[in-house]
Amino acid sequence: MEIQEAILSRRSIRKYTDKKISEELINKILKAAMFAPSAMNQQPWHFIVVDDNDLLKKLSIIHPYGKMLSDASFGIMVCGDEKLQLTKDYWPVDCSNATQNLLLSAHGFGLGAVWLGVYPREERMKDLKLFFQLPMHVHPFALISLGYPAEKKPMPSRFDPQRVHKNKW
Ligand SMILES: Cc1cc2nc3c(=O)[nH]c(=O)nc-3n(C[C@H](O)[C@H](O)[C@H](O)COP(=O)(O)O)c2cc1C
Repeated sequence: MEIQEAILSRRSIRKYTDKKISEELINKILKAAMFAPSAMNQQPWHFIVVDDNDLLKKLSIIHPYGKMLSDASFGIMVCGDEKLQLTKDYWPVDCSNATQNLLLSAHGFGLGAVWLGVYPREERMKDLKLFFQLPMHVHPFALISLGYPAEKKPMPSRFDPQRVHKNKW
C-alpha cells in the first residue's frame, strides 16, 4: 500500500473476527514500531505482547474504554523506559511515534487496531503498572488492541486549510 493511502485509510478498528494473528506478523509490526524516530535515537520503548485470553479479558476491564480487548487476538502494551533516554521527558513523544508506526504497519498488513490511551492518565498508568508488574522506571504509555477487522469505516474528511498558517500565525 502506498504511504499516503495507508495514512488516510487507517481507522480505529474495535470489532474483530476470531482469526488469530501469527507471531510472525506481530513481530513485523513491532519492527515497524521500533523503526520510529526518537529523540537522540534513544528508542526508549518496550512492548508487552499479550495473547492470553484471560489476560486480555482482564485488561478489557482494567482499561475504562478497552472493552474490545476481550475479543482481540493480541494486545500490545507500549511502555516508556526513563533509563533508556539521555534527554529527559521525551519518552512519551518517542512512544507516541512508535505507537503510530505500529498502527500503520498493522493496517498495511490488513489488521484492525485501536490505540487505547493510558499516559498521561495517572489512574490508568497506576493500574497497568501494577497489572504488568513494571519496574519503577518503566511507564505504561498506550495499550493497543489488535485483530482481523470485522468492521469497515469510511474515510472522513479532515484536511482543514484554516489550520495551516503561512509564514506567520
Ligand atoms: C491518545 C489516544 C487515546 C485514545 N484512547 C482511546 C480509547 O481509550 N478508546 C478507544 O476506543 N479509542 C481511543 N483512541 C482512538 C480515537 O478515538 C481515534 O483515533 C479517533 O476517534 C480518530 O479515529 P480514527 O483513529 O479512526 O482516525 C485514542 C486515540 C489516541 C491517539
